[in-house]
Amino acid sequence: MRTITDIREMQRIALQLKREGKTIGFVPTMGYLHEGHLSLLRNARKENDVTVVSIFVNPLQFGPKEDLATYPRDLERDSSLAEKEGCDYLFFPSAEDMYPAALSVTAKVQERTDVLCGKSRPGHFDGVATVLIKLFNIVQPDKVYFGMKDAQQVAVVDGLVRDFNIPVEIVPVQTVREEDGLAKSSRNVHLLPAERDQASALHQSLKMAESLITEGEYDPVKILSVIRGFIEKNTSGEIDYIEILSYPDLKQLTRLEEKIIIAMAVKFTKARLIDNAIISVRKES
Ligand code: PAF
Repeated sequence: MRTITDIREMQRIALQLKREGKTIGFVPTMGYLHEGHLSLLRNARKENDVTVVSIFVNPLQFGPKEDLATYPRDLERDSSLAEKEGCDYLFFPSAEDMYPAALSVTAKVQERTDVLCGKSRPGHFDGVATVLIKLFNIVQPDKVYFGMKDAQQVAVVDGLVRDFNIPVEIVPVQTVREEDGLAKSSRNVHLLPAERDQASALHQSLKMAESLITEGEYDPVKILSVIRGFIEKNTSGEIDYIEILSYPDLKQLTRLEEKIIIAMAVKFTKARLIDNAIISVRKES
């Protein structure tokens, strides 16, 4: 595996690979790799000639009160994990090189952002879209891999790629979970021991909701109230949001139908966790 820090060098390598007819599978990350990222990398390896993982903690997608400074970082550990999984190139640019000056043009995401994480993180998805345009131009991927844990991000990037005719295929990959169901996340290390024990309640509440829907409950208000009650009873976390929306359009629903997402964010002492379930709703008879 080669680690590349220079943007022009990464771009030159990517363009050369394309000239040679090789396909590039790309896994953009902010580092502190966990099983979720490694599963994206495994998928990328299976489906492409060459794999690139980027590690860049993108300041543009953090709000002023968010955890940019404390976001976990460990390049040595990340390099060794990526190398073990057979990654070909680790792209690790500096913030100074990515943003040498204030950008004269940035992306503004117009839809799918006034719900879920977008609501409490104004500008977050603009930052994600902006950095991804840069990364796509540098890495020149054929396929890009995203975890469904951040289903809103997948929906937003889907819009970005479509609206800007970016020649890349988005490959959504299922959330990887701990044994007790907690979705793997770089932020889990910040949970206090008692909170770590409680955190599986997020996934449990989603499974409960799924069962209710299978049994024929199509009223989002009733389902939301069951989930909320379960989280409040079983965790000390503060619910940021729990929403049920259509997917991938992320529109409000009065009655559940077709494909939906149930998504939540819960704030613990030093970690804000997100989780979701995408469910295909059986037609009401
Ligand atoms: O999901 C992430 O880690 C980030 O939002 C991404 C896609 C790497 C952009 O900075």
